[in-house]
Amino acid sequence: MNYFRSHILIETDEASVQQGAKDIMAALKQELAKHKLDKEINVLETGSLGFFERGVCLAVYPDNVVYGDVTLNDIPQLVEEHFLKGRPLSRLMLEKAEKKNIPLEYAKRIVLENSGNIDPEKITDYLGVGGYLGWEKALTEMKPADIVQAVKDSGLRGRGGAGFPAGLKWSFTAPIEGVQKYVVINADEGEPGTFKDRLIMEGDPHKLLEGTMIAAYAVGATKAFIYIRGEYKLCIARLQNAIDQAYEYGLLGKDIFGSGFDLEIEIEIGAGAYICGEETALIESMEGNRGIPRNKPPYPGQEGVWQKPTIVNNVETIANVPAIITKGSDWYQKIGTPECPGTKVYTILGDVAVPGLCEVDMGTSLRTIINTYGGGMKKGSRFKAALVGGAAGIFLGDSMLDVKMDFHNLAEYKAVLGSGAILVLNDAVNIVDVLESVIRFFRHESCGKCVPCRNGNEQLYRSIKKIKAGLASEDELDKMILLADAMYKTSFCALGQ
Ligand SMILES: Cc1cc2nc3c(=O)[nH]c(=O)nc-3n(C[C@H](O)[C@H](O)[C@H](O)COP(=O)(O)O)c2cc1C
Ligand code: SF4
Repeated sequence: MNYFRSHILIETDEASVQQGAKDIMAALKQELAKHKLDKEINVLETGSLGFFERGVCLAVYPDNVVYGDVTLNDIPQLVEEHFLKGRPLSRLMLEKAEKKNIPLEYAKRIVLENSGNIDPEKITDYLGVGGYLGWEKALTEMKPADIVQAVKDSGLRGRGGAGFPAGLKWSFTAPIEGVQKYVVINADEGEPGTFKDRLIMEGDPHKLLEGTMIAAYAVGATKAFIYIRGEYKLCIARLQNAIDQAYEYGLLGKDIFGSGFDLEIEIEIGAGAYICGEETALIESMEGNRGIPRNKPPYPGQEGVWQKPTIVNNVETIANVPAIITKGSDWYQKIGTPECPGTKVYTILGDVAVPGLCEVDMGTSLRTIINTYGGGMKKGSRFKAALVGGAAGIFLGDSMLDVKMDFHNLAEYKAVLGSGAILVLNDAVNIVDVLESVIRFFRHESCGKCVPCRNGNEQLYRSIKKIKAGLASEDELDKMILLADAMYKTSFCALGQ
């Protein structure tokens, strides 16, 4: 076995590959070999490092330095400065954790702890950082009911938008006996500006698999599916690779760890309709039907895929589970807020200096997220509002900057965490333009099943166009509010609501 003094993780997500990441990686390996450093410095692929708009990025460990906008021409100088002379190349440097003054209590990660630190394509890397210990513990030391109780006690709430307690959801399905049960991981992630689940899967696919395995055992499901949007090609490839490795290592299949428990995991590829992220439309789509929501009740936990009890959970929700099992629900409960323990992964976009991804304690304020993780507002711009929770979210202004953001506190202001996307807007942005784009999205994505949403979004869109064209009177706003209220009260599913 070779021990390397440094690891360089280069992002090879689709955007980076288009910008030459593979060629840059090959050139880097060649340059290191030229200086006989290839046995000391390991070059690995990873998913996006989360620094969007910064071209191809690579991270150097254990130095904890991230370089951005790297091109082929930079490689010789980068190798010479950083690896031969031992001084980071400051002109390309994006981040050094200490330099950014990220407070240590905020630098805690659960879901993303391995992302960017291990090779997501090697199960041995995951095992090397304690991966699959939760699965082993669950199967060999715990009864399914103990796991459901542990997840309940942890206070973990669903990260797919609604914040429903995960353990409670599992507790409805677990006792059902004598039927095939399923677990479905919702990796559809269609909300504009949201890419947290993508980066969780790209950076650490085994963590999602481990959480899925534990969830399946807890509710007695012998088959699990990961429903993933078709555009997420790198995620699909990495997850399939991880599933194949898990079978090879006996972590999936028949009589796992001699426990008598069998489990299969399969990937289902979605075709890109936003509504297919809604759990019952997702189930319809899995069954080969058009993706439109079903009546609830019965909830999927009672009647889901092929009318069998089915647990549907978001990627981030499930990625929290291995740590809850290995470290315990007491440990988990102490992170975040009493009502919403744990961390939250956000995507930060718009007029911030460093758009990207962060994982912070639940309850972290919008101000901290923007200033500490987004690097503050872009130079010369002032904060006007942030659209928090994705397109289906709410605009939060100045007065909300210090609110502790979790499902519970935001509900007091009729706001939501939603998909975890934060779009930061400067004071030059016209909110009407933003609203037009949001309504255009929902008009396009309405599945058409019910009139309030199908026709309501069309009418809202016409009104906003009229306002933009300067052809509307104040009555138009009253009409829009009335219509929106009717849509909220009468639409069939949460998209129209
Ligand atoms: C229009 C619409 C789109 C949705 N898209 C997603 C999605 O992409 N991913 C997701 O996890 N949940 C999505 N949801 C929420 C799911 O219906 C469901 O609540 C969630 O997958 C449950 O997982 P959780 O309990 O772990 O949050 C969507 C809901 C609606 C109404
Ligand atoms: S609210 Fe919209 S998306 Fe939901 S069922 Fe009705 S038409 Fe379809």
